[in-house]
Amino acid sequence: MPDADMLGDHAVQMRLAALLRSTANDLKRPDEYADTDLGLPPGTFARLINGTEPITWPVLVAAATAWPVNLRDLLPLQDDTDRDVRIFRAAESAASSRILDRAGRPYYEYRDTVMSRLGSFRPEWIRMLCTVADNEPGNPAVQWNRGHLLYQLTYVVGPVNYYYSWDGTRRCIPMRTGDSVFGLPYAPHSFTSRDADEPAYILALTYGGDLTGDPQRELAVLGEQAAHDLAYHPDGHLLAQQLTSLLHAKLLSPAELADRAGLDPRRVEALLFGKVSPPPTELAQLAAGLRVNVRELMPVTSATTQGISVQFAADARRWRTGGDDAAAYEVTELAGDPLHPHTTAVDVRPLLPEPNDAAWTRTYQHQYVYVLEADGTRMSWDSGGRHQVELQVGDSVYLKPQVPVAFTGNGRLLILRIGGAVRADVRFALGHMASGGQDRYVRDTQLWYSNEGK
Ligand SMILES: [Fe+2]
Repeated sequence: MPDADMLGDHAVQMRLAALLRSTANDLKRPDEYADTDLGLPPGTFARLINGTEPITWPVLVAAATAWPVNLRDLLPLQDDTDRDVRIFRAAESAASSRILDRAGRPYYEYRDTVMSRLGSFRPEWIRMLCTVADNEPGNPAVQWNRGHLLYQLTYVVGPVNYYYSWDGTRRCIPMRTGDSVFGLPYAPHSFTSRDADEPAYILALTYGGDLTGDPQRELAVLGEQAAHDLAYHPDGHLLAQQLTSLLHAKLLSPAELADRAGLDPRRVEALLFGKVSPPPTELAQLAAGLRVNVRELMPVTSATTQGISVQFAADARRWRTGGDDAAAYEVTELAGDPLHPHTTAVDVRPLLPEPNDAAWTRTYQHQYVYVLEADGTRMSWDSGGRHQVELQVGDSVYLKPQVPVAFTGNGRLLILRIGGAVRADVRFALGHMASGGQDRYVRDTQLWYSNEGK
């Protein structure tokens, strides 16, 4: 439990102040009312916000007690990066080694790779300690887990058997270096080695993506039934489920929707029962009738089979970026799924000796990099100036979204990029704010009106 002293460093205090101000603004509480609500001597709230008095744990508890907000709503993220990146060296990774037993026998060796408080990556290097002589999913030596919430992109090195279970049926896929697999939450799985004399390990890149954080906390309060009811089920007609949900949300009758969309009421009924699929023109009419974008009527589907999507290295797409004469990277696509449009998993070979324009990349995604092979491999990045580090095998790196980065030298990198909380909806909303809105959204410590009047 934090003590009564100042919470965090100066940067954290500034973010705390912005959250406190923004909460008070939302509740329409000018400073003197905030002082009263929180039981503070007159003038204190203003000093907390302008940084002349530290924001302490008791202040936050008082705010979360007096106001209809959660403590977590008042707590900012802790930025644990150094110049926008975190670099976790192979030696630190080795030092985190843990042998985990299954059924009383060593089954896996786990090692941490880089993690940051800013990204939902929970990536582990895992060595298989159980060797099998067959590819039978029923082999009694195979120890299954119960599945887990986090999505998992697995990258294989060596003779690894991947076991997975879906709807009670167990299967095994023999894999080799460069193969990858994407798995859906809560599906039980396991890994073994086919050869005790060869290195056999995986990079198990688990991540929460959209599922962890606020949605999980909200559903924990709404309950299991709500989680069942709110799920769009792929075994039903997805668009019909979306349409029905929007109809309920907007208190519309099918007849009213038909009238607004200029469609025959019987057609709308058929659509709501999933008996027909609308052509694009009809979708546009429905969207206009519902006063939503067509995007809200585009079901998101998965290309997984039995809960997984496999990409064998042998038939993976491979391409170069940055022009044919001076390509910057050779990229090999790894497993992925349209259910996760903002996830990118690739195996990348840098090709340039020095970072040029073609080598610099930037993305809205959080970025995880694991060094599979190193040969003069260097990472350059921009964070209020250029920085460069040499990377060795087993090193891993986390990069914040939007940080310009370039990889050079030779070597081979496993890169996983995932979307953060600034999802497409938020990006559209940011763009539609009134002038100056984006800056205030990030750090507003001002009252929502001027005391002097205007
Ligand atoms: Fe797993």
